[in-house]
Amino acid sequence: MSAKQPPSPTPDHAWAKSAAKKAHAAKLTAKQIQSLIHRWLSPSDQTSDPKAQTLSAPPSLAALARFHELAHPNRSDHGVYYTPPAAAALMAQAALSQWQSAHPHASTQNLTILDPAAGTGDLLLAARDFLPRNFTGRLIAIDTDRAALEIARARLLENHPHLADHITLITGSGLSPTLTKNIGQADILLLNPPYVPAYSRRSRKTKVLSVKQKKQKSPGRVNLFTRFIHAIQTLTKPTGVACTITPDTLAFADSYAPDRAELAKRFPSQRWLLIEKPLFDAAVQNVIGLFSQGECQTQSAQANHVPASADAATWIPGPPPSSSPVIFYKHPAEPLVQSTINKVHGTLLSDFFQVKDGINPGPAHMRAKLISPLKPDVHTTRSQCLPPTQSPLLTGRDIAPWGFCITHPTLAIRYDPSLVSRAEQKTGCSLRNPGIFQSPKLVSRQTANMPIVGIDLDQNHYTSNSVHNIRAIEPAHTPLLWGLMAYLNSPVTRLYYALSGGETRATLPQVRIAWLSRLPLPPGWQTLFAALGPLAQSLAQQAKPDPGTLTQIHHIICAHLNLPDPAAISAAYQTRFNKPSCRVG
Ligand SMILES: C[S@@+](CC[C@H](N)C(=O)[O-])C[C@H]1O[C@@H](n2cnc3c(N)ncnc32)[C@H](O)[C@@H]1O
Repeated sequence: MSAKQPPSPTPDHAWAKSAAKKAHAAKLTAKQIQSLIHRWLSPSDQTSDPKAQTLSAPPSLAALARFHELAHPNRSDHGVYYTPPAAAALMAQAALSQWQSAHPHASTQNLTILDPAAGTGDLLLAARDFLPRNFTGRLIAIDTDRAALEIARARLLENHPHLADHITLITGSGLSPTLTKNIGQADILLLNPPYVPAYSRRSRKTKVLSVKQKKQKSPGRVNLFTRFIHAIQTLTKPTGVACTITPDTLAFADSYAPDRAELAKRFPSQRWLLIEKPLFDAAVQNVIGLFSQGECQTQSAQANHVPASADAATWIPGPPPSSSPVIFYKHPAEPLVQSTINKVHGTLLSDFFQVKDGINPGPAHMRAKLISPLKPDVHTTRSQCLPPTQSPLLTGRDIAPWGFCITHPTLAIRYDPSLVSRAEQKTGCSLRNPGIFQSPKLVSRQTANMPIVGIDLDQNHYTSNSVHNIRAIEPAHTPLLWGLMAYLNSPVTRLYYALSGGETRATLPQVRIAWLSRLPLPPGWQTLFAALGPLAQSLAQQAKPDPGTLTQIHHIICAHLNLPDPAAISAAYQTRFNKPSCRVG
């Protein structure tokens, strides 16, 4: 089997998928599905809708749980996306071992373990497998979905009938303000919150959100998901441990900064694990967060897949928890690069250089009107070969993948503001201010996850909006563009850019432009850029960059910033970008 083929589904999964398909085809209502599940769980009860009779009984309780998830008539409105077993096991193991290290002399026998949005019990099931046989504590499952909880109970008791007196199921909202009065607080809270935006009109209609509650004043983005994130603070004992699995935006996005600030106040000790491969149907990455009292620190790690245990990940300490985005370091040398440049106070790139977007042609008809191919034999300057109204147009592709040099453009633009009406401007079409194009400038690929910067001294090249343009504000600083190019293309700056560039969604590369202008320039930047200039000039002449020159640039920058270990920074660069920093091969 080729590596690209998806793994064949397990018999449980195959049954669940086919049964859910049949349930959808038969248009079974939520009530009919519920009674069917009830019949499967209590075979003595034969009352069931004839429509449902066509479905064969599930081969296992795991298959039944999967069926419930897939057949759910309103899955996205209720956030019914259950945690895969490997992630559930990791969360349970991490939470229990964190609790044990905080309570070295206590036993896990009497713990209260709570999942306030329990579904069919995957998280509690995983926790059960790490508990002692003589467990006498409580496993508490809450969900608005009664059928899901019935399945959860059956799964928790399967082969563990002695747990019958230790399981509490509550059909209702995990956000109910009276909850802690009834069940107390948890030693361990496990949570995969329903990801249901409360501002979507469709979800507002659903029962989930009509649960009568006083509108809470919660800071940040208000949705069901964040309300659960806030609820863990009261649902967990002061010395308890909470473990969540959420979209990675909780760790990164500016819109969740207030939520991170709240979490930081309540849980000063945090661990965040980024799982790069999407775990649920949506193509988003997930983070597992582990929150507790104790030493004020953030540790983060990332993994391609769910690791077998939390200890298998490489944990790297970062700045203490706060509203700021969590930083997922990939190599132990990265924090020093970041903190060194962060400590450089005062001068920003925008104090001496202007950063601007290239031309946005707007909709397709405007693109066709403004942009045309440049014939291969006219790869020279406009004054020689192009009509006076046309100019060469650089795109990101015209900048060499390693930076430093640009190739000949293959497109031309009719740079004539009279061709763009007000109505067309409203559709996004913008020729921008010509000044930035008609200057010696650096051009940077905008769609890259790192600065990839070339130099354009022709002063007649326009650029498309896949390019950032950087020019000197004072003409006296124009010669320093060479050194700035070497600085921006260096492993140190590229690592800093990746670590500090704000929201790192590949789909929003333009978020970077504002940030690039805020890049700190180190003290003595003029001396540094003057020293780097000749090296950058020699690289701009080469079809492939000379590794020795790249290494020299790297060493000069490390020495200037007092970074002690250039080899470790090269290794960090290799780890993060999967390519060597000083060789191009
Ligand atoms: C993402 S699933 C997680 C289920 C389970 N904990 C797991 O990890 O597999 C979210 C669950 O939240 C439930 N839910 C939605 N709104 C709820 C609410 N207000 N209170 C409690 N549960 C809710 C859904 O029915 C669904 O089972």
